[in-house]
Amino acid sequence: MSALQGTRILLGITGSIAAYKAAFLTRLLVRAGAEVRVVMTPSAARFISPLTLSTLSQHPVMTEIMDEGQWNNHVEMGLWADRIVVAPATANTLAAMANGLCDNLLLAILLSARCDVLVAPAMDLDMWAHPATRRNMDTLLRDGVKLIPVGDGELASGLVGPGRMAEPEEILRFLIDDLRPARDLAGKTVIVTAGPTQEALDPVRYLTNHSSGKMGVAIADELARRGANVRLLLGPVEVRPQQPSVSVIPIVTARDLLRAAEQEFPSCDAAVLAAAVADYRPATEAREKIKKTGDNETLSLDLVRNPDIAATLGATKRKGQILVGFALETTNELAYARKKLEAKKFDMIVLNSLRDPGAGFAGDTNKISLVYPSGEPVTFDLKSKADVAKDIVNALAALL
Ligand code: CTP
Repeated sequence: MSALQGTRILLGITGSIAAYKAAFLTRLLVRAGAEVRVVMTPSAARFISPLTLSTLSQHPVMTEIMDEGQWNNHVEMGLWADRIVVAPATANTLAAMANGLCDNLLLAILLSARCDVLVAPAMDLDMWAHPATRRNMDTLLRDGVKLIPVGDGELASGLVGPGRMAEPEEILRFLIDDLRPARDLAGKTVIVTAGPTQEALDPVRYLTNHSSGKMGVAIADELARRGANVRLLLGPVEVRPQQPSVSVIPIVTARDLLRAAEQEFPSCDAAVLAAAVADYRPATEAREKIKKTGDNETLSLDLVRNPDIAATLGATKRKGQILVGFALETTNELAYARKKLEAKKFDMIVLNSLRDPGAGFAGDTNKISLVYPSGEPVTFDLKSKADVAKDIVNALAALL
């Protein structure tokens, strides 16, 4: 069977000189078995004739938001597609997408779409590097749009650098990978720890941190999508996994987390420890609310060390069990990561630096490096947490 048999692809073409390559892409998609509908922005039609695309896709090309009798075709097309690919995507269209504008049919479809959207940008290197384009791209990644990386080479302007559209063959490959229901982790059991812990001080107060749990939950979802049995040991956060097969074990304190992890770990193939565990907890939990006393301007808290879940699991892990840790650092990132890798017997550590904009706790994007006991670290671009989860799970699958 062809790779894209029966898949509904909506190809959006915008006004770049790379639009001519959209003809090759359309042909590749049709050959791969996809059902292709083409939407062009008005300026795209100045670079390549809609007739070429309608001939290749075997369907009329849509350009107008108000084609007769079809005023709501943007909603229909948004629901019809399994994937929308915008190729080429100009700086202007990326800016419009990032801001939710909808003054042409393609933009209106994108706002109505329920499927995943992929963009293959094409522009001059300075436009690609411009802070406004960077900002727009970050927003789109945060919204879950997938970036088909730009090529580096000779540009239509004569300049040389990053900004050219990925080749049609690369776009096709990206799309096939994106659609493949890889169930390569079927039969594997993985525990994921995620979110913060809360350490009570008295009945109304606790110590905690800014962890949102988003990265760990995205990893749990990706593992489940690939067929793994996932047990998510999740601290007190709002976010929940989307995959119904993930079994969520709620925890509050580091000691809860240790108990749950020790119970689950022996039957697991791997553990991904993304939780931001409080290293210390109040030495005693007051039974009653702690009151202000007299004129005291200061108050000291006695803290005691919490159990280290990662180190505990590292000390008991069987041959073949894989432990993945996280390190969030602000300085000397790599040296600290290596130290943790060794101390806790991790097989891989996911390093984020708070110095990288867009990385870390609260946001929807992250920028990571994977550090191993030997060899060079592997560094990735800034991506949505869902895409970062894919990179981490790919690396874990390779270790398993
Ligand atoms: N971890 C854990 N149990 C703890 C503390 C951390 O399992 N009590 C895990 C985290 O989930 C993460 C890794 O260990 O995978 C982080 O390492 P750690 O040395 O604890 O990081 P920090 O607490 O940030 O250490 P430091 O304060 O020394 O930077």
